[in-house]
Amino acid sequence: MALENMKAMLAHAAAGGYAVGAFNILDYSSTKAVVQAAEELAAPVIIQTSAKTVTFWGCRTLVGWVAELAGRAKAPVALHLDHCKDLNLIRDCIEAGWTSVMIDASAKPFEENLALSRQVVEMARPRNVTVEAELGAIVGVEDDLHVKEQDAHLADPDQALEFCTKVQPDCFAPAVGTAHGIYKGEPKIAYHILETVAMSTRVPLALHGGTGLSDEVFRRCIALGCAKVNISTQIKYAFINGFVGYHNAHHTQYDPLKVIKAQFDEMKKGIVENIKLFGGAGKA
Ligand code: 13P
Repeated sequence: MALENMKAMLAHAAAGGYAVGAFNILDYSSTKAVVQAAEELAAPVIIQTSAKTVTFWGCRTLVGWVAELAGRAKAPVALHLDHCKDLNLIRDCIEAGWTSVMIDASAKPFEENLALSRQVVEMARPRNVTVEAELGAIVGVEDDLHVKEQDAHLADPDQALEFCTKVQPDCFAPAVGTAHGIYKGEPKIAYHILETVAMSTRVPLALHGGTGLSDEVFRRCIALGCAKVNISTQIKYAFINGFVGYHNAHHTQYDPLKVIKAQFDEMKKGIVENIKLFGGAGKA
């Protein structure tokens, strides 16, 4: 299938009470793991690329992998640029074939975030590219963006409504207490903010910081309006642990394809579990 944007996918998920898994890929193998998992489960899926990953491989290479794998798959696949502050990179990705982009101007003052996010919507919409925007600060490290806990602040519901009314994003990421990376303690999720924002804005919400959240937290957030769930750190761990684990168990064997296969299997296993848990299986 040709790549899709997130519009119909997220509308369908929000109406059906499930979420589409959005997985940050690292290379060809992790991209294939996401597409294969989605195809086997007949689930829609979002392939996400961090700005750092795009810069590392280049737009053309990345879009080539995704278009080739998605083109052969029966499941609907969107290609989304995760947290990006750089309007030039957003423009490059749109021109190269990304079907969705995230503008992350959440570190800027409200009015500036609003203006930048609107600018991206104006750039993307004529190209049929969907836009995610963020309000508040999600703690942790994603890509090279560090947000310290003392700097984190939750999205204000009144500002969220004003932001969504003026920006009209296709997907909205309010900071609700989740964090990128590994949780140090039990995350405190502001369910009341999630619920108020989902009800007032009517925009499908993105849940960031998916790695390490409990099944119960996922279910509750999805029931309250999170139609997209982001998973990144889990894939990074599977990427390294799958590789190292195989090599440690077969340390005299220097057969790279077997190591790559073990790494692939480890990444795919987690992705399959996530898609099932988010309720996406059978929704393609
Ligand atoms: P994790 O790295 O915690 O899974 O978060 C992913 C994310 O929200 C990417 O934007």
